[in-house]
Amino acid sequence: MTSHNQLTDMRFYLNIDHVATVRQARGTDEPDPVRAAVLAELAGIDGITVHLREDRRHIQDRDVRLLMETARTGVNLELAATSEILDLACEWRPMQATLVPEKREELTTEGGLDLSTSEQLEIVGDALARLEGSGVRTSLFIDPTPEAIQAARELGADAIELHTGEYANTSGAERVRQLDRLDRAASLASKLELAVHAGHGLTYENVQPVAAIPEIEELNIGHSVIARAVLTGMERAVKDMSRILRRARRHRA
Ligand code: PXP
Repeated sequence: MTSHNQLTDMRFYLNIDHVATVRQARGTDEPDPVRAAVLAELAGIDGITVHLREDRRHIQDRDVRLLMETARTGVNLELAATSEILDLACEWRPMQATLVPEKREELTTEGGLDLSTSEQLEIVGDALARLEGSGVRTSLFIDPTPEAIQAARELGADAIELHTGEYANTSGAERVRQLDRLDRAASLASKLELAVHAGHGLTYENVQPVAAIPEIEELNIGHSVIARAVLTGMERAVKDMSRILRRARRHRA
């Protein structure tokens, strides 16, 4: 696997969906998530994550197609197991596909995949078989429970991504409990020879204890980093516009 960040044994995948969210808010062509991916790669990320949703609310087919051509790191495509996007994933063959649950009404992915019924197991199993048949590494986004991990193992996924949302949304003693849950889940998954990823809701403030879990080899982080980039890029963006405005006033007829 290509990695620009050889300093750690954990990969940092940046989810760039929200660069596309800003673009879609105006229906123009900026900011372009593909350009953002280039800059993030130059800054040292190990891979790019995008979620191509059925409603195309942020990332578009064009974005994934271009990323597949231009990314120098790996592309991790998040998708729902039931969708026509599975066909696209098999055609595009990203380095990795992460199956996630998807509901139209949700603001973001709300929970891990439901692997509790035979119907769900069949749907996810079929999707995994199709992706594997196309040579795509597979990961399942699941809640940190022994049952879900066992099911992922039986389905033959290459990796699991532990949902860190409950950890992120709690505080105090409950957060400690959720961290312990993640820790135990990572350890069990690793014993079952599943590669362990994690993500959702991780921020500059809460990521450290999760990043310290030794079995976790990949973190997917989006919102917090894109939000920070908007702020840390503000000074330069304002200065660039101010310079153009000042020049225009100086040179007016
Ligand atoms: N992992 C999965 C499976 C996700 O669906 C998301 C959100 O798209 C993330 C990680 C990243 O979450 P956040 O944007 O909260 O960092």
